[in-house]
Amino acid sequence: MAMIEVRNLTKHFKKTEALKGVTFDIEQGDIFGYIGPNGAGKTTTIKVLSTLLLPTRGEAFIDGIDVVRDPMGVRKIIGYMPDFFGVYDEMKAWEYLDFFAACYRIPKQKRLGIIDDVLELTDLTTKKESFVHELSRGMKQRLCLARCLVHDPKVLLLDEPASGLDPRARIELRELLKELGRMGKTILVSSHILTELADFCNTVGIIEVGEMILSGKIEDILREIKGSRILNIKVTGGDEKAKEILLAQENVEDVLISEPNSLKVGFTGETDDLPDLMDLLKENDIRVVSFAEEETDLEDLFMRVTKGIVT
Ligand SMILES: Nc1ncnc2c1ncn2[C@@H]1O[C@H](COP(=O)(O)OP(=O)(O)OP(=O)(O)O)[C@@H](O)[C@H]1O
Ligand SMILES: [Mg+2]
Repeated sequence: MAMIEVRNLTKHFKKTEALKGVTFDIEQGDIFGYIGPNGAGKTTTIKVLSTLLLPTRGEAFIDGIDVVRDPMGVRKIIGYMPDFFGVYDEMKAWEYLDFFAACYRIPKQKRLGIIDDVLELTDLTTKKESFVHELSRGMKQRLCLARCLVHDPKVLLLDEPASGLDPRARIELRELLKELGRMGKTILVSSHILTELADFCNTVGIIEVGEMILSGKIEDILREIKGSRILNIKVTGGDEKAKEILLAQENVEDVLISEPNSLKVGFTGETDDLPDLMDLLKENDIRVVSFAEEETDLEDLFMRVTKGIVT
């Protein structure tokens, strides 16, 4: 049984279909990156999983517990970090954590030790006595994460924990999430940006307007979205002939003459097959001026996936 199971989750807000039947599993110990643009339905999903929002249809289970039927059971085992940090001005950092620990009915004598531990884990030990409103945004964000950890939950649901953080704080957050992963926690973390999560999530789901368009192991997803690459080939003449020759190749799916003697080739082969393609043109007396793979970074691929072009 997966630690998080989401089955055909649907949520309607009046006329908006925020979730249109989303299904995915997250295994115990996985770090799942939940990626999608504004309005995709990430927060809605996370709120349903956190028992703060009832789904219109569908089901979700955390460690086998139904989020609709037993919300209290779910709340004990999850740590939820909302996308916005609530205002708790007149409280010191440690008091804030103490308040949440008390909400989880952690006995008073145990609380101080736990607070020190989570402050250390989130690198806020020196801010223990600071008022919450005196903390920087990044520190507040870390305090919010610390608050999710006081009851040592098995599952963390983090809604854009990296938003508003500077590059250094992002790297630190990433390290912290990796550390929590090593501690065996199952983590769902949302973001707009695939590259931000790609190096520490082992699984990802890409959602767009309420539909999961790709999900699975990160290696598989990357392979899938990198599936076809584009070659730019310039020749001195014979572009039509070159097109014909290339199109006859198994690993060429498409050839476009973008301007005279410039070809754009949709290529599905491996890097090792590229020299053969070049040799083939040469053998057919096509003189190649340049032969280059179009640079496509992950971000760019992601943009294409989310516009549905690749899929
Ligand atoms: N309380 C609400 N009432 C009405 N519509 C809502 C409500 N909450 C969300 N929506 C709509 O549901 C859709 C999904 O919103 P959601 O907040 O889940 O997106 P998101 O992926 O978290 O986006 P972002 O990246 O901007 O945080 C949007 O079209 C939004 O307008
Ligand atoms: Mg959101």
